[in-house]
Amino acid sequence: MSAGTPSEFVRVGMVGAGRIARVHANAYRAVARGAIVAVTDPIEAASASLSAEYGYRVVPTFADMLADPEIDAVLLATPNSMHAEQTVAALKAGKHVFCQKPISLTLPEADTVVAAAAKSDRVIQFGFMLRFTPPLPALQRRIASGELGPLIAAQAAVFGWEPSSEWFYEPKNGGGVILDTLVHFGDLVLWLFGPAEHVHTEGGAYKLAGAKKFDSPDNAIVTVKHRSGVVSSMYVTWTAGHGNFRFDVYGNEGHAGVDLVKSQALEVHLTPRAGEPDGWQYPDLVWDYGYAGEQQYFVDRILGRVDGTTAATAEEARAALALMLAAQESLDSHAIVELP
Ligand SMILES: NC(=O)c1ccc[n+]([C@@H]2O[C@H](COP(=O)([O-])OP(=O)(O)OC[C@H]3O[C@@H](n4cnc5c(N)ncnc54)[C@H](O)[C@@H]3O)[C@@H](O)[C@H]2O)c1
Repeated sequence: MSAGTPSEFVRVGMVGAGRIARVHANAYRAVARGAIVAVTDPIEAASASLSAEYGYRVVPTFADMLADPEIDAVLLATPNSMHAEQTVAALKAGKHVFCQKPISLTLPEADTVVAAAAKSDRVIQFGFMLRFTPPLPALQRRIASGELGPLIAAQAAVFGWEPSSEWFYEPKNGGGVILDTLVHFGDLVLWLFGPAEHVHTEGGAYKLAGAKKFDSPDNAIVTVKHRSGVVSSMYVTWTAGHGNFRFDVYGNEGHAGVDLVKSQALEVHLTPRAGEPDGWQYPDLVWDYGYAGEQQYFVDRILGRVDGTTAATAEEARAALALMLAAQESLDSHAIVELP
């Protein structure tokens, strides 16, 4: 860690005081060696309410936050279209950056983040909390160990909260359910199965008025063929509620599945092998630790206590965006879209 950052404790400034800001505020109650100390939001009532509830100092503007020497890191919880510009500005100001997903809504903007990250010695991390939600890193380790054998397919059902604001549907500000919400699983399947070869999407605006207004999907099924040969099929929805969050991976030697809502465990079933027990295993736990885990990791990276390799790099966040853009293009064009 370089000079100018305290070695014992990380002071985080929250940028944006909307719905996810509260999730992060609660998560920080379980984070050691770091705390959110300040908040800024152009809607004064929003920052005042968060400040009253969590004791944060209100900072008038984002620029004031960047200029504040009492803030080591910023947590960007703002609309998607602002992420790239705010990330680059914060890195230039010498702040560590935790940026909500997606990295941006366009690849040129994502490139500015990748370039700024490459030039900066600050920590940059993105809001892919599934990498920190215990059953999923456990699944990643099992896949990497080869336990399931050569992989064949994966199937996911992914819920997202119904949007709280209209900007989520707008192509220029939120990008719709694929870019905003499925990007979590875009990152996950690239992490687990490697780069994508092509993608095919079906879906549309089935229910939500905002989705219909902007002709932006509220439900979609995205099928990705990875270069490794694995096929990932992901159903994403803003209308099915929280009960729908499952991920299954099938290999030649077994199956592993995660239910992030009901059993909150990793279930594994291995094909019988000589000398090994067959049957179901439920070795892992709990959904809620993902948010606290990612913030603890962010803080510990800044303090130099972890190596940072679990988190998505800017290049990986860009790759997740590129995959989602191709998925959206496939939906719009009714065609299979090749990835470079
Ligand atoms: N990881 C997750 O599970 C998850 C879940 C929900 C949302 N998100 C992400 O979090 C981000 C915010 O989503 P949300 O649901 O909280 O949206 P929201 O609309 O509830 O809140 C966004 C807030 O940002 C504020 N804002 C706008 N411009 C700003 C600026 N220049 N400086 C500071 N604040 C500004 C708005 O006034 C608003 O209060 C989005 O990128 C979204 O994709 C992630």
